[in-house]
Amino acid sequence: MKKINAAITGVQGYLPPKVVTNHDLAKFVDTSDEWITSRTGIKERRLMENGATSDMAAEAVKGLLKKTNTKPEDIEVVIVGTVTPDYPFPSTANILCDKAGLSNAWSFDVNAACSGFIYALSTGTQFIESGRYKKIIVVGADKMSSIIDYEDRTTCIIFGDGCGAVMLEPTEEENGVKDFILHSDGSGREYLLQPGGGSVNPPSIETVQKRMHYVKQEGKQVFKFAVTNMADVSAAIMEKNNLKSEDIDWLVPHQANLRIIDATANRMGLSKEKVMINIQKYGNTTAGTLPLCLWDYEKKLKKGDNIVLSAFGGGFTWGAVYLKWAYNS
Ligand code: UT7
Repeated sequence: MKKINAAITGVQGYLPPKVVTNHDLAKFVDTSDEWITSRTGIKERRLMENGATSDMAAEAVKGLLKKTNTKPEDIEVVIVGTVTPDYPFPSTANILCDKAGLSNAWSFDVNAACSGFIYALSTGTQFIESGRYKKIIVVGADKMSSIIDYEDRTTCIIFGDGCGAVMLEPTEEENGVKDFILHSDGSGREYLLQPGGGSVNPPSIETVQKRMHYVKQEGKQVFKFAVTNMADVSAAIMEKNNLKSEDIDWLVPHQANLRIIDATANRMGLSKEKVMINIQKYGNTTAGTLPLCLWDYEKKLKKGDNIVLSAFGGGFTWGAVYLKWAYNS
């Protein structure tokens, strides 16, 4: 019997319409367009003014169903990578199914910060490869504005709101997800986290007064770990699959900082034309960056293209996925 591979058969994004430029942010924190652009590559990001993470996800999923000509009731599993769930529980995936009419799916969230999409994609891949499921939707969605301190210039300039979703289906062709390498190291938690609201610091007047429900990041430390680990894991997946630089058609890197993206591409020996970059338009949308890149570049992708997705995020969590693109647009 031929091996069943899990192929991405469609991708759709959703970005809220409100644009916040670097100049807009410079009106209320001490920063400048020049500083943000030179240190991160970001020019603007999106802001979800009304609605929750599940509303962005529902828009993306409805578009994905239409585009792939799929009936909502045919979806069997939904996996959402997010750190900005609608509520601590029920899961955002659960609410998304209700909002998008996915009445026959079971669903759950994956909390792996900026690695949320590759964790969720790798999980969905296993369900398809097992032969048990035929239609799975994998989402990366974050409304980062709901946990960002707009008085903290070190974090508010980086993050934005956005969401992307892919359809995963079985194929007996050589395309689809070929391999993944995932890591987690919880000893990094002190450098990037939302300290308030969980079981360590349950919500109280004090946690609110100390602004503990917002993202806290030691940027320099995170940068150091991100730049090394994203490059290392991308090189590792190439080596494991005997891929040379010239074999890779696209790198899809997490969009946290243009300098981290450049370092990863250099380590893989890739020229700029092979690297998906949209950080200038959306900033860091956490679990949303990778599917949003695939969506932005979909028309340029060809069946059989060798693609490496790579991410690093809070936890720490990091990893890479190697796949062969399965369709021409
Ligand atoms: O997606 C999850 C993983 N996250 C990441 O990968 C993010 C990794 N970290 C980074 O991308 C970078 O560390 C940042 C973009 C967050 C910061 O860039 P940096 O080059 O590491 O700056 P820094 O933190 O070393 O700060 C340099 C200076 C400091 O001033 P002094 O101490 O030199 O006087 C900061 O106070 O820049 C100052 N600064 C700012 N100045 C203007 C920090 N934020 C700003 C700002 N505008 N927004």
